[in-house]
Amino acid sequence: MSTDSSTPSSTASGTASSAAGHDGSAHGGSPAADPAALAARGAARIDWIRSRMPLLAEAREALAASRPFDGHLIGMSLHLEPKTAVLLETLQAGGAEIVATGNHGSTQDDVVAYLRTLGMTVHGRRADTLDDHHANVAAVDAARPSILLDNGADLAALAASRVDPAAVDVGDPTGGTGIIGGTEETTSGGLRLRAELAQSIPFPVLVINDSRLKAIGENKHSVGQSVVESLMRITNLRLAGRRFLVAGYGWCGRGIAQYLRAMGGKVAVAEIDELVAFEAAWDGYRVGPIEELAAWAEVVITATGHPDVVTPAVLDRLADGTVLANAGHVPWEIDVAALYAQSTARTVLDEAIERIDLPDERHVILLAGGRMVNLAGREPKGNSLEAMDLGFLLQALSLERVATSAASLAPGAQPVPDDIDRDIARRMLAVMGADR
Ligand SMILES: NC(=O)c1ccc[n+]([C@@H]2O[C@H](COP(=O)([O-])OP(=O)(O)OC[C@H]3O[C@@H](n4cnc5c(N)ncnc54)[C@H](O)[C@@H]3O)[C@@H](O)[C@H]2O)c1
Repeated sequence: MSTDSSTPSSTASGTASSAAGHDGSAHGGSPAADPAALAARGAARIDWIRSRMPLLAEAREALAASRPFDGHLIGMSLHLEPKTAVLLETLQAGGAEIVATGNHGSTQDDVVAYLRTLGMTVHGRRADTLDDHHANVAAVDAARPSILLDNGADLAALAASRVDPAAVDVGDPTGGTGIIGGTEETTSGGLRLRAELAQSIPFPVLVINDSRLKAIGENKHSVGQSVVESLMRITNLRLAGRRFLVAGYGWCGRGIAQYLRAMGGKVAVAEIDELVAFEAAWDGYRVGPIEELAAWAEVVITATGHPDVVTPAVLDRLADGTVLANAGHVPWEIDVAALYAQSTARTVLDEAIERIDLPDERHVILLAGGRMVNLAGREPKGNSLEAMDLGFLLQALSLERVATSAASLAPGAQPVPDDIDRDIARRMLAVMGADR
């Protein structure tokens, strides 16, 4: 794979814009670190990641020629980590000015420092409190972006809340917000836009997680790979011949089951939707009620997105030493509170590994406290670089569609247009050499 020669240099210099209330210094372990040293560290990490994001490299060249974002300020709220930095560079190459913040707790200070050297306004640091985080999101809104790259619909909700509907000019497609449209990264943000915000968002928002391409590339293959990789890294356990129970056979569960089986695991599936359970059975897995399969499994992994999957009744059936892990978004798919309530002893054995002793002499092993095991465990890697290349190209092309054709899109939340999904699928097939 070739490296990307069209990218900003690692040593790019520029005016570091100082975030409101923040000094741009390092936080989260090295409060006194020199911003230039931090930026250099961020640049080196981003160089590696950029070199493995060929779809964004292609897009950067095309957008640099067409400049669809000229005159636009893109306001972003998304994890500030190296892969996101490559997306922001791509949007900047297309003419955008950028004002950005991260998610609470996941901001990487070296990435922030690097982005500031490119002249972007970045609010946030690793050590931010929740109040700081809310102030950062408000600062992005206060910069009055014309396009949003949103996460959880926070920016859209803020923009809508500052508009007095009575004062809006008839025929203003931005509904008084000054925003022509945007994208929403998450399913939960999409739900929010379609429910509580359904009447108040006057501009189009393309919901990235509605994309089938993303479901296949990210939920199935990336979560499948990274959950199995995290399980191995955290526990160092053998997978071959081991008995695994996957609860939920949606996009994530399908991927987890597939990657476990590929490593030699014996995999069973518990799934409440009979059509999906049928699919799992015909995919060759053992399928049955979770209460029955729980007694058979040596490792149980939940991936349903729903609370209370591993209930006290399921906990009662687990064999001594069963390992419990969750891959779903809500941390209480495993009823950790019930588990802790009945425990006689709790011992942290290693990072992200906790032993919980139960009154009947059994014990279970809980990984990452029941939080998403591929993101909350030791040195989490998250999605593969190529999956984020694909997911962020979806972002870039969706934002380009908003910038060039907002007037032809309906207001409110909507899926990424099918032609963008298909275009990216074709590009991925070509760039990975699928025909070889
Ligand atoms: N860990 C990660 O990196 C990561 C990445 C993407 C998504 N997620 C999360 O993973 C979860 C699953 O996502 P998905 O895309 O697979 O969703 P999905 O809707 O495609 O699949 C969920 C499946 O779980 C089944 N289910 C629901 N309740 C159940 C229960 N009590 N027992 C057994 N099966 C049950 C549903 O019938 C469905 O088939 C979501 O919470 C999502 O946010 C995590």
